[in-house]
Order: sequence, then C-alpha cells, then structure tokens
Amino acid sequence: MAASPFIIIAIDGGAASGKSTSARILSERFNLLHVDTGSYYRAITAELLRRNVAAGDLPAVRAALAGLRLGTRLSGRSAQMEIDGRHSDDDIRSRAVNDHVSHFAAIPELRAALLSYQRGLADVARTHKFRGLVMEGRDIGSVIFPDADFRFFLHADPAERARRRAGEGQQDSIAERDRLDTSRKASPLTCPPGATSIDSTHLTLEQVVTLMAVPINAKLGPA
Ligand code: CDP
Repeated sequence: MAASPFIIIAIDGGAASGKSTSARILSERFNLLHVDTGSYYRAITAELLRRNVAAGDLPAVRAALAGLRLGTRLSGRSAQMEIDGRHSDDDIRSRAVNDHVSHFAAIPELRAALLSYQRGLADVARTHKFRGLVMEGRDIGSVIFPDADFRFFLHADPAERARRRAGEGQQDSIAERDRLDTSRKASPLTCPPGATSIDSTHLTLEQVVTLMAVPINAKLGPA
C-alpha cells in the first residue's frame, strides 16, 4: 500500500469565525499538528506590551524583535510558541491584547519574523510523525502556504461572530480588528483565489467540519 501523503491545510478567516475549533477537531480526526498562528501574534503582543513597547514606535519594535528567541514545544497535537524559552497563554486573550494585537500584526518586520517560523513547523510535524499540518490564521492560504493541499476561508455574519465571542466571556472589538486586518498593507486578511469559502453563519460546527473533512478524507483516508 502506498504511504499516505503529508498534507497541509490552511484555514483563514476573520475574528471569531470558528477557525480554532474546526482546526482542533480536524487535527484530532486526522492526526495533524495544529497551529493557531493568532496565538503567536497574541503572545508577541503580550510580550511587547510587558516591555512597554508601543506598536507605533517602530525602532523599539525592531529592537525588541531582534532580541526575541522563538522556540516551539508540543502540547498534545498543538504547536505552542515559546518566547525566550517560556510558553505562556496567561494574558493572550486579555482586553489589552485584543485591543493592540492588530496594530502589531500590521508591522511588516513582525510578520516577516513569524513567516519563516511558521513555515518551519511543517518540518516539526514531519519529525513528530504527524500526517500533516492544519494551520489557522489570516494569511495562511495567501502567504504562508499558498500551495497548501487544502485552503479554507471561514466567514460568518458579524453579529453572529460577536455573539460567539461574548459567549466565551471576552470583551473583544472584533469588527475593529477585522477592519484593521483587512485594510493593512502587509498580508491583509483576504480569501485567496482558489480557496474554498465557507459561510458558517447558519451552520453547526459539525456541518462546517464535515465540509472540510470530506475532501481531506478522500485524500488521506481515516486516521
Ligand atoms: O480572535 P480570533 O481567534 O479570531 O483571532 P486570532 O486568530 O487569535 O488572531 C488575533 C489577531 O492576530 C488578528 O486579529 C490579527 O491581527 C493577527 N493575526 C494575523 O495578522 N495573522 C495571522 N496569521 C493570525 C493572526
């Protein structure tokens, strides 16, 4: 029997569009490494805020970035980012990070620092014998892995997304983050040509996952 291929799945979409939950389920179902790139932008934002670096102060951002050592540790099927040898999810969903992350994420140097880091995670997945990688974010199918085997773009009505985020107990200006993420020059949030666009407003999570899993299953077979 032929060895099953190593696959890369890109899931992009706006704030609270359901990327993380569907990516996590796919990673379990098909034994894929799960990469939540939003958590990386959030962790770097939290670190720069701790150091009192403002997104508008580019020389300070550059100097801080040059000194950050990015590493990876696995937690189950999830690839977590370490900064200077430490991983912390503690404050990455705080109000301050929600308010600042899109400003930091618009800085080309910060995106460049994460680009090679993110691409390198495909090797981490291979080394640890995963069947592939499912990476979620804003520019995965457009910039990080434009040749991914599967590229999905999740939409949902803004009111429905705001309801989902409030249900998680978070204060989050998702409309403002979407505006910043869509309008920035560096790797804006966009549905790239050829990606499969899914509107999840009136779909259950299971229905969204099924739409993604059917073609993946055809290529990979069950785990
Ligand atoms: O709140 P939600 O889970 O939807 O957002 P997230 O995936 O945690 O991403 C937080 C923020 O990081 C986004 O609003 C973007 O500004 C930025 N981001 C990005 O620019 N590119 C990515 N690939 C992922 C996140």
